[in-house]
Amino acid sequence: MVLTGRVGLVTGAGSGIGRASAVMMAAHGIKVIVGDISTSDGERVCSEIAASGGEAMFKRVDVANIDDVQELIDFAVNTYGGLDFAHNNAGVFGKLALLHEVSLEDWVRELSIDLTGVFLCMKAELSYMVRRGVGSIVNTASTAGLKAAPLSAAYTAAKHGVVGLTRSAALDYADKGIRINAIAPGMIETPLNLSMPKEEFDTYKRMMPMLRPGTPEEIASAVLFLLSDDSSFTTGAVLEIDGGFMQASRQ
Ligand SMILES: NC(=O)c1ccc[n+]([C@@H]2O[C@H](COP(=O)([O-])OP(=O)(O)OC[C@H]3O[C@@H](n4cnc5c(N)ncnc54)[C@H](O)[C@@H]3O)[C@@H](O)[C@H]2O)c1
Repeated sequence: MVLTGRVGLVTGAGSGIGRASAVMMAAHGIKVIVGDISTSDGERVCSEIAASGGEAMFKRVDVANIDDVQELIDFAVNTYGGLDFAHNNAGVFGKLALLHEVSLEDWVRELSIDLTGVFLCMKAELSYMVRRGVGSIVNTASTAGLKAAPLSAAYTAAKHGVVGLTRSAALDYADKGIRINAIAPGMIETPLNLSMPKEEFDTYKRMMPMLRPGTPEEIASAVLFLLSDDSSFTTGAVLEIDGGFMQASRQ
């Protein structure tokens, strides 16, 4: 897999899965745009990549803001001369609650970041990629994009939406040189999960067939495969990377 000199963009790259994806891309010679709403986290990841001999630049972005997202894509193109790969990964996990207890404000926030954010990123990325007739996009969905996560109506709805967006765009751009896939991680050890109460975390852990959560690096390697030409005949796929969680729940 020769990736040296290609240009990749990762949103939510300041932490967890996005950080691991950016670090792994850079380790394979990809010039990386680190996009995140947190400047301190994003800059820290860029320093980490530079210290390992990789190339990365930070751009602050709120993926729910259409102007921010357009500036992010322009920044990638102006800084590194193009955009070959995009990992649309930024996401948040709202408070656990029954649907009737979810405020409109919380619903809108979660949908704006987790679903509209992916739409806005894809819209800007595809506008650029379609002119060149080449590109590869991976969206971070979740196993909650394929089955319900308890007490998480907005998150489940948003991630089901990401799966739908991925499949729809994959179909429409398959003959335009652009592949679009999604990943559906199960429980992964990241700050997003580590902030949950220990009791809840342990309950989820017991539901995992491998009896452990995944690591961000185990997700990043799958993202790199889907972005690269190694998966050249794959588009519209939703890759479950969940230690068997989806299989167990089908029994
Ligand atoms: N950790 C898991 O178990 C798990 C499982 C399935 C799916 N996911 C998904 O993986 C993705 C990454 O999650 P993570 O676990 O690495 O979380 P994380 O909290 O470690 O990282 C998320 C990053 O996104 C950034 N971010 C938040 N809102 C943003 C916005 N509006 N614009 C730009 N950046 C923003 C945060 O600053 C943070 O750096 C999310 O889409 C999440 O839904 C995570």
